[in-house]
Amino acid sequence: MKLTTLHKLSQMKLEKDPITVLTAYDATYANLLSKQGIDVILVGDSLGMVIQGNRTTVPVTIEQMCYHTEAVVRGNQSAFVIGDMPYMTYATVDAALDNATLLMQSGANMVKLEGGEWLFDTVAKLSDVGIPVCAHLGLTPQSVDALGGYRVQGRDEEQASQIIQDAIALQEAGASMLVLECVPADLAKKITDQLSIPTIGIGAGVHTDGQVLVLYDMLGLNLDFRPKFVKDFVAEKGVETIADAISLYIRQVKERSFPTADHSFE
Ligand code: KIV
Repeated sequence: MKLTTLHKLSQMKLEKDPITVLTAYDATYANLLSKQGIDVILVGDSLGMVIQGNRTTVPVTIEQMCYHTEAVVRGNQSAFVIGDMPYMTYATVDAALDNATLLMQSGANMVKLEGGEWLFDTVAKLSDVGIPVCAHLGLTPQSVDALGGYRVQGRDEEQASQIIQDAIALQEAGASMLVLECVPADLAKKITDQLSIPTIGIGAGVHTDGQVLVLYDMLGLNLDFRPKFVKDFVAEKGVETIADAISLYIRQVKERSFPTADHSFE
């Protein structure tokens, strides 16, 4: 099977073909996801919560991210793989360069980092040396304590215009993709329409260029954490296996029947 490329993902935005993304942290799930036809696998630092059982993603290290990225890459058949840069591994441009190199050498096709305009020089440097970058705005889980909890971002005008300004700056710096987490659907649409790079939403409404969920959330495994934007695909009619649930997620994202208004914020 051919590997999905960044060029293909950019084409999908132009063709309004929704990009399907799920997280995975091991070879078995990566193999299953890619065989079901997922476009992108995100080796998210959400593994700090769903695999390690931590309260936040903050304790995750670059060594752990590299270990899980290598496992995912071994199982993957066709998906584009994004590796998350953990907490404080991109606090300076030099640190970002060293740590992004480790993730790319583990087999990632792109690295993801959380934050706004302050990352301009970092994103520019990584892009200049040929490391594709996915930015992440809105609710940025590594800053959960600074944000005062897992809450929707960009509801007031000032915050919304800051997120738009950050998105434009990060694209100008060279970011090739943008994750928008927990922002009002209208704001996500505005940003998606304004940017030439694909936007991937989680709790950001149906108008982004693609959708992402944490795998264990969409499989209904997380009984203590059921935010509004999560749908349990295992509980859907006709779903008998994990493969069925993944396939239904892909179909509903492609048809834009997921997410609905019930999974989105105003
Ligand atoms: O770490 C992760 O899984 C993520 C997604 C929630 C977008 O960043």
